Amino acid sequence: MVNKDVEKIKTGIDGLDEMLKGGVPKGHVFTVMGEFGTGKTTFSLQYIWEGLQKDESGIFISLEEDRDAMIETGLSYGWDFQPYLDENQLAVKKLTPADAEATINKIKSDLPQFIEDFDAERIAIDSVSLLNMLADTPQQKRNQLFALSKMIKDTGATALLTAEVKDENPTSSRDGLIEYTADGVVLLRYNQSDMEEVQLSIQVIKMRRIDHSRKIKPFVITDNGIEVQMEGAIF
Ligand SMILES: Nc1ncnc2c1ncn2[C@@H]1O[C@H](COP(=O)(O)OP(=O)(O)O)[C@@H](O)[C@H]1O
Ligand SMILES: [Mg+2]
Repeated sequence: MVNKDVEKIKTGIDGLDEMLKGGVPKGHVFTVMGEFGTGKTTFSLQYIWEGLQKDESGIFISLEEDRDAMIETGLSYGWDFQPYLDENQLAVKKLTPADAEATINKIKSDLPQFIEDFDAERIAIDSVSLLNMLADTPQQKRNQLFALSKMIKDTGATALLTAEVKDENPTSSRDGLIEYTADGVVLLRYNQSDMEEVQLSIQVIKMRRIDHSRKIKPFVITDNGIEVQMEGAIF
């Protein structure tokens, strides 16, 4: 049954928003999973960009790219983040995975206050798998992930967490945890038809509280970011 009362926000990826019948429920913590190069970072930036165009504030938390790299990547898609940083509508936080303890402390102490002070409506964390590498034990990983998800939920922001998948099973996150804690899972995959071409595909595995499409659709990454080919068929 469709719950018409659920308020949704657009991801900024048109075909996906159509598959979600309007977008992601506001306040959800959802994950975008996929192998290297499937477009997770692109998705995160496109998601934040969409919010900025709608006067929403956003925080991009990266474990891979610093502020300059993020700006440069954005520009390659025609998204100029600089003015939004200047206007304090966008904040970029780089977490350095090398410094495990400091990073975890930051997440526990600084980050909640920062998100609250900034009054962020959208948050992207790229990637939660790198963050998990900071934990020593599976138990620590689980606790850290739950704490992070809860912390974000409490702020009321709608958050996107990217996750790497297992090499041997590209439909399951590397830690096998985030898909359970997250309110939603969007899966990005490579499909290979023969030795000539590889196609990218997108599907919604899970999205709590809404009726969504379960179709698998091809997509391309262009100078404008991710474009889902709604009329296209997968191999
Ligand atoms: N400006 C661009 N135009 C078209 N395709 C691009 C552009 N920038 C990156 N790509 C494609 O997107 C891929 C990287 O996607 P990315 O979002 O970094 O994936 P992930 O974060 O999952 O590793 C590149 O390998 C390339 O194929
Ligand atoms: Mg990436």
